[in-house]
Amino acid sequence: MKIAIIGTGYVGLTTAVVLAYLSHQVAAVDKDTHKLKLLHQGKSPIHEPGIQTLLDEVGHTLRFTPSVAAVVPEAELILIAVGTPPKKNGEADTRHVEQAAREVAEVCHPHRHYTLVVKSTVPIGTNRRVAEVVDEVFATRGIQGNVSVASNPEFLQEGLALQGAFYPDRIVVGAHCDDAIDALRRLYQPLLEQTFDPPSAFPRPEAYHLPPMMTTDPSSAEMLKYAANTFLALKISFINEIAGLCEKVGADVTEVARGIGLDTRIGPRFLQAGLGWGGSCYPKDTAALLGVAAQSAYEMPITEAARAVNFRQREVIVEKLRAAFKRCCGAGVTIKGKTIGILGLAFKPNTDDVRSAPALDIIRCLVAEGASVRAHDPIAMPNAEMALDGTAVDFREDVYRLSHEADALVLVTEWDVYHKLELRKLAKQMRMPILIDGRNVYLPQDARDAGFYYVGVGR
Ligand code: UGA
Repeated sequence: MKIAIIGTGYVGLTTAVVLAYLSHQVAAVDKDTHKLKLLHQGKSPIHEPGIQTLLDEVGHTLRFTPSVAAVVPEAELILIAVGTPPKKNGEADTRHVEQAAREVAEVCHPHRHYTLVVKSTVPIGTNRRVAEVVDEVFATRGIQGNVSVASNPEFLQEGLALQGAFYPDRIVVGAHCDDAIDALRRLYQPLLEQTFDPPSAFPRPEAYHLPPMMTTDPSSAEMLKYAANTFLALKISFINEIAGLCEKVGADVTEVARGIGLDTRIGPRFLQAGLGWGGSCYPKDTAALLGVAAQSAYEMPITEAARAVNFRQREVIVEKLRAAFKRCCGAGVTIKGKTIGILGLAFKPNTDDVRSAPALDIIRCLVAEGASVRAHDPIAMPNAEMALDGTAVDFREDVYRLSHEADALVLVTEWDVYHKLELRKLAKQMRMPILIDGRNVYLPQDARDAGFYYVGVGR
C-alpha cells in the first residue's frame, strides 16, 4: 500500500521503518530540517535499539520529505504521528494534529478516497475534530472530498519499540466506517498473520500468539490509550507505595512483587519498585486524562494519587541520601559540599530520552542543596546537559572516574552496564562508600560485602 506518515518522532519513524520492512511504499513528512538531513544521510535521529540496522536495510525504499503536498495526494493511507505536548494546565495540545489534518485536506485529490489515521495520543473527541477540520478545508476548496478518519493508538515502549511493533499484543482501530477498518486491516495484515520473515535482530518470540485487531468507535479507542497508560502508571505507583510500607515494617518489596505477580490476575510485569516513571508518556498522559476529567467536572482520585506517589519517589531518594550521610558521618552532616555521582540520566534504559526523567529532578535538588554533582549515562549525557540548561554538573564518560573520591553514588537508571560494575573497586576509591540504589539493581548483601553502605527501595 502507498502510505504517508506525518511526523518522524519515535512513533512516526518506528512505524515508517516497520511498514517499509513489511513491503509497503512509505513516505514520511517532517518539517524539522535537522531530522530530515540526518534521515537523508540514512541516519536515525532517535536512539532506539535496532532502528539503525533496519534503516540501513529498508532506508532506500523510504522517502523523507518536508512536503505534505509531495506525498499525500498519491497515498492511500495517511498516518498522523505528530506530537501532542502538554499545555500549561496538563491538557494535551492537539494543535499539530489539527494542522497536519488541515495540510492533508488541502492537497487531497478530489476524486480519490483516503484513510486518515490518527496515531498520536490525543484527547477524547480529537478524531471527531479531525474529521471536522477536513470537512472545513474541503468546503473552502469547494470540493466534496472523500476521507475516512480512524483512530489507531500506538502502544510502543521506548527502548523496545521495534520488538513491540513487529510483535504487538493487539492492534486497536477506532472507526465508524468499514472502509477505514478494511484499509487498516490490509495495512497490518503481515503483522496480524505474522507472514513476514522476522528481521535477524528481532526473531519472533517462541510463545507469541497472533495479535487480535480490536475494532471500536474512535472515542473509545482514544480513551483506551489513556486508560492503558494510566493503568500501567498506577501499577508502578502501587508497588512504590507498598515499598514505602515494606521499609517501615521490615518486609522486602521485591519478594512481595514476586509473590503477587504469580497471581495471573495481577501478573509480574510493571511491579518494579524504585524511582517510578518518567518519560514522555505516563507523566503527560496521566495529566492529560485529568485534564479531560476536569472538563467534565469529574474527579479521578486514583489517577491523582498515582501521580503524587510517583513524584514523591524522587524526594524519597534524596531523603534516603540525607539519612545515609547522617548515619555514616554524624547527625549534623548534610548534602552541602558533598560530591555525589548519579548513575543514569535517561528515564529508562536503552533510550537517550530524558523527558521527565527522575535524574533531572534529583540533580536539581542536590545542586540546590549545595552538592557537587557528577553524572554518567551511556548515551543520554548530551540530552541531559541540554535539559539541565546551565545547572552545574560534571558529566563523566567513565563510572570509575566518576566515583573517584565521591561521597555517594545514586543509581537512577538501571542500564545493563551498571549491573556489571565491579562494586568492590568502586567502593574502594570513594571517600564515603554510600550507594543509594534507586532501581534495586544490586543484591543488598553483595553491595554490603563489597564495602558499601547500601540503601535500596522497599527492602
Ligand atoms: C509507555 C507504555 O509502556 C507504552 O505502551 C506506550 O505506548 C507509551 O508509554 C506511550 O504512550 O507512548 P514508555 O514510556 O516508553 O512506554 O516506557 P515504559 O517501559 O512503560 O516505562 C515508563 C516508566 O516506568 C520508566 O521510567 C520506567 O523506568 C518506569 N517503570 C516501568 C518502573 O518504574 N517500574 C516498572 O515496573 C516498569
